[in-house]
Amino acid sequence: MTVLVTGGAGYIGSHVARLISERGDRVVIADDLSTGLPDRLEGQVSAHIDLAAADAVEQLRAVIRAHEVTSVIHLAARKKVAESVELPEWYYQQNVGGLVNLLEAMKAEKVTRFVFSSSAATYGMPQIGQVDEDYDCKPINPYGETKLIGEWLARASAKAWGLRVVNLRYFNVAGAGWADLADTAVANLIPIAFAAIRSGRPPVVFGTDYDTADGTCIRDYVHVHDLADAHLAALDYLEHDNRKFDTFNVGTGTGSSVLEVVEEVRRVSGLDFDLDLQPRRAGDPPALAADVSRIKNELGWQAKQGLTEIIESAWNATKS
Ligand code: WQD
Repeated sequence: MTVLVTGGAGYIGSHVARLISERGDRVVIADDLSTGLPDRLEGQVSAHIDLAAADAVEQLRAVIRAHEVTSVIHLAARKKVAESVELPEWYYQQNVGGLVNLLEAMKAEKVTRFVFSSSAATYGMPQIGQVDEDYDCKPINPYGETKLIGEWLARASAKAWGLRVVNLRYFNVAGAGWADLADTAVANLIPIAFAAIRSGRPPVVFGTDYDTADGTCIRDYVHVHDLADAHLAALDYLEHDNRKFDTFNVGTGTGSSVLEVVEEVRRVSGLDFDLDLQPRRAGDPPALAADVSRIKNELGWQAKQGLTEIIESAWNATKS
């Protein structure tokens, strides 16, 4: 098989691309390098394409034809929640518009295997701590909306012209599978905590009065190498299963609180630090973890690594 990986110069996409190459399948990357890093493309076949640009359909069709692409994994997207609140039109244009172009190109070139990178942000503020895929999706920001609309569009294409879709809802992705592919953005709790302690500032904890065991928010942190592996399981499933559209949570099934995360950061780094206890951050659900039964039963995938491996790998990759 030859897999087109959009966003393959990004943190998650580069892990996915490397894992596919390592098992011997061919990879072609499409990336606009707006947030992805050129270094991550080393040794990979790649094309510089902005999926939301006016000429994207033609460019994508040319890439699909030139490399005889058989399957597509679509990760290229804007993913900053706060930015999406400031710039909703741009988020819709980039995330929904980019997907429209990609699906048009796939339809024209008769490529029907599709893995879509969705998010637990589609669930919004669930009232239960562990959500399964049938839980009612009510995203609370434009980022989450664009992901849910992306799922709907992929499902509509599945009905209309035979696209076959595995829709992966990522929970909180962290860690590094390879040091050179580590997350360089300081946008989520673990990299933010590392950056704080390196510069001698106390990490911020948003909210200590939640109805959880230690009062801080609970999230399901999944190792990026495990997450990348879920994409391989999804590709294999598309090879042998005939269902048109399926959604799977990708998490560990186990939640960790913010205090548990920072304690593990303290242990792994060997550094002592205070904490900056702040009020709740707007829009944070108290607890969000994945029910992972479906992906385990149907794709045969489960996370192998836990919070310790996540934090150790991220720390080791970025400590120099
Ligand atoms: C985790 C927990 C914070 C920073 C977001 C998106 C989601 C997905 C992943 C993209 C929360 C707390 C954080 C800090 C803290 N995005 N926190 N101090 O919000 O669960 O998920 O990223 O694909 O769509 O919403 O992740 O890492 O921001 O926060 O206490 O300095 O850490 O309140 O409880 P979140 P996060």
